[in-house]
Amino acid sequence: FLHLCLIPLLIILVLPPVNFTLTVSALAQVLLHWEPNPAQEQNNCTIRYDVEILSPVPEEYDTGRTRSVRTAALHDGFSARVRTLLLQGNLQMSSDWVQVNLPPLPGAADTSVTNVSCVTRVTTLGNVSLCCTWLPGPGAPGDTKYFLFYRYEAHTEECPTYSKDRRSRSTGCRFANTQIEPAGIDKLIVIHINGSSQRAAIKPFQHLFNQNAIEKVNIPRNISISLEQNDLLATWEKPISPFHEECFEYEFYLINLKSGNKISSNSFQLRVDGSSSYASRVRANHNHICRARGVWSDWSETIAVGQNKLENSITWVLTLLCVSLSCTLLLVAVICKLNHIWRKLFPPIPTPSNKFWDPFPIDYEVKSYKINPSFSAQGKGCSAI
Ligand SMILES: *[C@@H]1O[C@H](CO)[C@@H](O)[C@H](O)[C@H]1NC(C)=O
Ligand SMILES: *[C@@H]1O[C@H](CO)[C@@H](O)[C@H](O)[C@H]1NC(C)=O
Ligand SMILES: *[C@@H]1O[C@H](CO)[C@@H](O)[C@H](O)[C@H]1NC(C)=O
Ligand SMILES: *[C@@H]1O[C@H](CO)[C@@H](O)[C@H](O)[C@H]1NC(C)=O
Ligand SMILES: *[C@@H]1O[C@H](CO)[C@@H](O)[C@H](O)[C@H]1NC(C)=O
Repeated sequence: FLHLCLIPLLIILVLPPVNFTLTVSALAQVLLHWEPNPAQEQNNCTIRYDVEILSPVPEEYDTGRTRSVRTAALHDGFSARVRTLLLQGNLQMSSDWVQVNLPPLPGAADTSVTNVSCVTRVTTLGNVSLCCTWLPGPGAPGDTKYFLFYRYEAHTEECPTYSKDRRSRSTGCRFANTQIEPAGIDKLIVIHINGSSQRAAIKPFQHLFNQNAIEKVNIPRNISISLEQNDLLATWEKPISPFHEECFEYEFYLINLKSGNKISSNSFQLRVDGSSSYASRVRANHNHICRARGVWSDWSETIAVGQNKLENSITWVLTLLCVSLSCTLLLVAVICKLNHIWRKLFPPIPTPSNKFWDPFPIDYEVKSYKINPSFSAQGKGCSAI
């Protein structure tokens, strides 16, 4: 059977596809389309197409169809080529390539925004907010106005609320509500920022974010901490999120013990010295079970437990006062009795032992964790969401 095809395959010409076009079908989305060469003989062999994206992000694949859709940042253009493949068994022959390029989006050099970063959050109502910041391009005139659009699947929307720098150029944007699915996994958020100015054409900028990578997780809720005898017990509830309990991990920080711990359950138990005081806080992130990690949540408020809690501090002050007073009196008595040489010296006042509540010792440090630095840098200036 192999021979039946082998012979015709060697003698037929493989011709490149025709009418290859690239069409921008949405923000940062290209439709590649071509047609089979009408002169192509098939001779019982399968026809497929080899597609090679040359820029901006190289990619190679083959397809039996004559169209394909790609998502990519298009501000520096897009270029792709395609060729015909004739297949039979393990044998294949290919045609010459046909290549098409989309030119870069128009605009003067250095007028594009730079340092674009975005964060999303799941709101209390279960929707997703989006906040982005950027820097004006170094070559952008002073009157430049920037406009931000996001696309999520088929939905495209312009930013309703911009924040501005001192020269009243927009450098940030906030969507209180978006069409981004809170439980979406690995879907792309396309960001498109263009602009206008009287003095120059502003070159647009596009960026694709994985929605999971830029989600800033909410803070764990209902944190409670108790200290009974020598048992410290902390419990909390998962952050506001459509994902289940098992999708989160927490970092628990007990400040007086200067220890950070990664925890995957919703509680933390530890034997401690029951006569000391402690302060603690918790933050959350996604673990790998349900989806990729996001950005660590902010820390919860610091919660204090232990002997030296505020209600006990008055007792402490009184005790200390009494002790100091008795010591002083005793010392004065002793000194008065023995002392002629030290007449001019002041009786030393004992330093009170400083077991007072110290909420954040100076040498306190957070253990370092493997967080992708580009994620942790994201969302500066977005703390308002
Ligand atoms: C295609 O295959 C059929 C049988 O499988 C055969 O009869 C026919 O001659 C073949 N055609 C060509 C062009 O090889
Ligand atoms: C902007 O990004 C560049 C390179 O990515 C970095 O060197 C620079 O520090 C950033 N600027 C600001 C203000 O964040
Ligand atoms: C949340 O999103 C849903 C679906 O998009 C929408 O119907 C609802 O109005 C949104 N809620 C708020 C408070 O915007
Ligand atoms: C910015 O981009 C949007 C979406 O493509 C477009 O509708 C708008 O006309 C552009 N604005 C400028 C000033 O280029
Ligand atoms: C937190 O506790 C309050 C009452 O103590 C309760 O009404 C609320 O539902 C709890 N929150 C969650 C997320 O369970």
